[in-house]
Formats: sequence, C-alpha cells, structure tokens
Amino acid sequence: MDGIFGDFEGLVVPRPVEHLGNSDLSFGGKLRSPLKIHEDGGESGCGGKVWIAGELLCDFILEKSGTEDLLNKWPHDGERRFRNVLELGSGTGLVGLCVGLLEKNRFHKNIGVHITDIDQLVPLMQRNIELNGVSKEVVAEGLWWGEPLLESFAPSTVDNLPKTNVVDLILAADCVYLEDAFPLLERTLLDLTESETPPVILMSYRKRRKADKHFFNKIKKNFDVIEVKDFTKYEMYLKMRTHLFQLARRF
Ligand SMILES: C[S@@+](CC[C@H](N)C(=O)[O-])C[C@H]1O[C@@H](n2cnc3c(N)ncnc32)[C@H](O)[C@@H]1O
Repeated sequence: MDGIFGDFEGLVVPRPVEHLGNSDLSFGGKLRSPLKIHEDGGESGCGGKVWIAGELLCDFILEKSGTEDLLNKWPHDGERRFRNVLELGSGTGLVGLCVGLLEKNRFHKNIGVHITDIDQLVPLMQRNIELNGVSKEVVAEGLWWGEPLLESFAPSTVDNLPKTNVVDLILAADCVYLEDAFPLLERTLLDLTESETPPVILMSYRKRRKADKHFFNKIKKNFDVIEVKDFTKYEMYLKMRTHLFQLARRF
C-alpha cells in the first residue's frame, strides 16, 4: 500500500499507476479477516485505487460499530438502525465492502450495501465483491451523479407509497475533487434526501484545492455540514488534511 499517503496537493486527481495488484487491509486488526482490494492502477479512472479518505471512513465505521450493529457506538439521529447502505463514488468499493464484511462476519442483521460509481468501475467493484466473498451482502451498480435516480434508490415511489428497503445511510469518500462534478454530486445528494426521514450522510473528504469550498458553501443552503471529530485517528487524518462530515438535510 506504499504511496497512499502521497501528496497530490494542488492537482486534480491524477490517474495513478503505482498501486497495481491486490492489498490486504485489516485496519490495525479491527477486521479479523482483512479486506482484500484489487487496484487496477487507474485503468478504469481515478477510482481504481484506494484513497486515504476511504480509509478514514473505514476506520470510523470500524471504531463506531460494536459487535451488534452498524455504527451503534456513534451517537446520531436517535436510535436509528442502518439496514440499507448506499455508497457513492465507491471506486474499488473499499468502504461499502468494509460494511459488507462486518455484516457477513459480525452483525447478521440483513444489512444490504450498494456500492456505486461510473459504469467503467462496476467490473472492478464486482471483482472486489468476489475477492471478499460478500456477494450476498454487497451489490455493485452504475450510478452517475446528476442523473435521475434508479427507482430502488429514490426516497419515495412515484405514487408516494411508502417503500421498503429505503436507503438509510449514504457513504461518500473523496468525492469532492472535481469542480465540474460539484453540481452533479449536489443534485444526487438532494434527490436522495427528498424525504421526511432523509438518510444519514457520512462524507470523508481530503482537502486539496481552495475551489472545494464552493461545493461546501453551495450545499450549506440545503444541508447542515457537521464536522465529526470524535474518533481516535482524527488528529492523524487531520495532518493529512482529511476530514469527516455528516451532512444533515434541512428543509
Ligand atoms: C478519488 S476517487 C474515490 C474512490 C473511493 N471512494 C476511495 O475513497 O477510495 C472518486 C470517485 O468518484 C467517482 N466519480 C467521479 N465523478 C463521478 C460521477 N459523475 N458519477 C459517479 N461517480 C463519479 C470516480 O469514478 C471515483 O471512483
């Protein structure tokens, strides 16, 4: 995993070639059977490698989830239990796969995870689902930001009947990096949260460029952006300008 912490300050995310192959990630032993991730070296886009913001989100989820349930040690939004997880811009699938492994080996609560990205990355995500043996828990799908949502991800049906399997947790790691994509990502976050009980959003973010503030300033019109600092490796990630936010939809 050499080079994950490399410095890309000031650059639009490059197409890296240094991380070809398979890596085992146990997150300091917090995952008994380590996550196996195949990285394609950027062949299918910048999501073909593991990014540090993804590692932050895995670390947070592992620290705040006990043996019984996902994020049950994180004080949030009442007693909500997360059962339907959607990851945006998953890349290799790292974060969603981490949740899938926890569900498979620990929780057994019928938690379903959708890992999504541009269509070109679906085969890599699928490969990583198979590498980790979590095809019952995790599904890989194309989801382009800014496009109309698939019915399965939309918060309510067209005729407004209540749905089962409504997304209740959205994860996004290192998805704020390309100015052209800011309005598209914002549109998708708005569409996913058009509901009386919107899903909880956890977004990890590596600060690279001053322009990123345009994204956060814009979404503050519709979301409270709350920095989450209460986790063990907060200071370590801060040194690498990597942060965690909860976005809470305001109406
Ligand atoms: C920097 S990578 C982060 C990958 C992964 N979350 C991680 O932390 O390792 C950003 C991801 O956002 C995805 N992405 C960029 N624009 C997108 C769009 N318009 N629709 C869907 N995904 C997009 C990229 O394909 C890429 O996988």
